[in-house]
Amino acid sequence: MAAPTYHLWESGCQMNAADALRAAALLERAGYVATDDGDHADFVLLSTCVIRQQAEDKFLRRMEQLAGQVRHRRLAVAVMGCFVGFSASQRAAAAERFPFVAVWMPPSDLSPLASYLAGRGLLPEGGTAPGPLPSSREGSAVTAHVPVVLGCSHACTYCIVPYRRGPERSRDAAEILSEVRSLAARGVKEVTLLGQIVDRYGLDREGSIRLPELLRRVAAVEGLARVRFLTSHPNWMGDELIDTVATTPKLCPAFEVPVQSGSDAVLERMRRGYRADDFRALVGRIRSRIPDASVSTDVIVGFCGETEKDFADTMQLMRDTQVDMIRIAKYSPRPLTWSARHLADDVPPEEKERRRVALDALLREMLTKKHAALAGTTGEILVESIEQTEGRRHGRRRGRFPDGLLVFAENSGAQPGDIVPVRITVPGPYASIAEATEGRK
Ligand code: 5AD
Ligand code: SF4
Repeated sequence: MAAPTYHLWESGCQMNAADALRAAALLERAGYVATDDGDHADFVLLSTCVIRQQAEDKFLRRMEQLAGQVRHRRLAVAVMGCFVGFSASQRAAAAERFPFVAVWMPPSDLSPLASYLAGRGLLPEGGTAPGPLPSSREGSAVTAHVPVVLGCSHACTYCIVPYRRGPERSRDAAEILSEVRSLAARGVKEVTLLGQIVDRYGLDREGSIRLPELLRRVAAVEGLARVRFLTSHPNWMGDELIDTVATTPKLCPAFEVPVQSGSDAVLERMRRGYRADDFRALVGRIRSRIPDASVSTDVIVGFCGETEKDFADTMQLMRDTQVDMIRIAKYSPRPLTWSARHLADDVPPEEKERRRVALDALLREMLTKKHAALAGTTGEILVESIEQTEGRRHGRRRGRFPDGLLVFAENSGAQPGDIVPVRITVPGPYASIAEATEGRK
């Protein structure tokens, strides 16, 4: 008999992706084999995001299709991630709405899936959890994510995450390190430590080490070439962290610090706890200590009460700081959040879209100009994959510079996991083309 198949439907952030991969590892341990065909799989696992209404709607549409399928064929559906939420009452409401779902998993909690599989005799009861990588990806995964801080207790007024992922909990450092060692032993070359506010690592755990020390220990793990971390918060990124990145060669000089807005009034209503000038100063501190560091940020446009002038302040902050990437989102009111309950969502949809487009155009212009200067310069990419599409792109090695710059290298025989020196030939705003140069593979 053919092995049963599972299909992973993914959405959301890297934290979700990390959780989903762990669930996939559990399914493979139980004998399931991955398939891309979601309409014929025996088991469909949905990893859900609800950060904006749009993300939730995408999941709801997929659930409608699945509801039709479960009536006609044998199919088990499991749902994990932020739609599920961490409280029992949230889960009960979800189960009532979608009674055909066999397994509900709160974010970062695989135990319901483990019990389900054990109940069917597919996994030993109380058996040890598999590693963070499904066996099908062992030896081929170049990069991996490791959650180090679960949940969030910050309560920015727009954000649903604390309601879905629960309060902030730092994981035990020894556990994190053993996971990283096991990833490195399976061929992973780059790990990214994850947290909603990753710089707060350890603060909620008596006697714990903090993020700079954790990063030093992770960087010392044999076999790893690169270590990244995200996401930072302007109030928690201290000089020790910046110094640690500056002085530890394997730590990539790439900082992900969401600013959300360049207007002090908006930041106040978001309860972010800093002013636009604090972000200016932080970017200055990073760049003066590490001149080639990249700084990426997130911005929400059209937050409650955002005026034309507020938005102009955001545009100006982006010009002043010349950030290396902006992830732009239009404000979307989310259930239970303070802003959804107390502030009017008063920027019309067309105006939100206009601001998104304007900021996007500014980003493209900034990056085009900045990256033009990279033509002819050299750097090293860690090869993540080889382009399989037919045509000119075929065979290009996809990888990143330590600062995160996305590069497609031509004329290279390198394999995923190799570090290759390249020279930029055609710089682009979001991705650049390069040629492999002589040297270490
Ligand atoms: N509406 C729009 N964007 C949001 N984000 C978080 N909550 C919302 C919301 N309610 C954005 C923020 C955050 C990123 C993960 O998603 O910019 O940094
Ligand atoms: Fe989406 Fe936020 Fe949950 Fe990540 S933590 S999956 S971005 S809602």
